[in-house]
Amino acid sequence: MNREFIKDLQTIFVLLDQLEKQTIDRDFPIIWEKVHATSCAQIGRMLAEKRGVDGEQAALACALHDIGRWISGRQYKHAPKGEEPVRDFLAEKKCTDETKEQIVQAVINHSKKDEIGTPLEEIVKDADILDCHWYGEDIVKPYHISRLKKALKDFGIHYVEELDK
Ligand SMILES: [Fe+2]
Repeated sequence: MNREFIKDLQTIFVLLDQLEKQTIDRDFPIIWEKVHATSCAQIGRMLAEKRGVDGEQAALACALHDIGRWISGRQYKHAPKGEEPVRDFLAEKKCTDETKEQIVQAVINHSKKDEIGTPLEEIVKDADILDCHWYGEDIVKPYHISRLKKALKDFGIHYVEELDK
């Protein structure tokens, strides 16, 4: 069992439990933030294995990618707003500064889904869109649809009928 990553998830859940006590308006409920963080991490691991990227780094970046929204409650500019909280989160972690910085950049840049970034950034963007799709969110923007189709193809899923409607 990967106790280290489970501990990271526990830290994330404790943080989200604390944030849930705040009486701010949220665009998404805390339970979604927990579910999305957890499933994105596993999708990120799968993508990382396929693409030759470090799986633990990918899982952590994916789990943390919406941290800016956890704090602000809002979708608006949540990716760049994640910079400070993700740096704080990673401060305690025993990994190299380079590994941490790559995670920080992946969080900051994950909403730029019309752009191609580093392999880690691409994993975070693809895991995000796959998870939203698999949880039934309508993927509407054309560049989101093309990214989703490409990511599905990575898993050997070649066609999703409703995407073309
Ligand atoms: Fe996001």
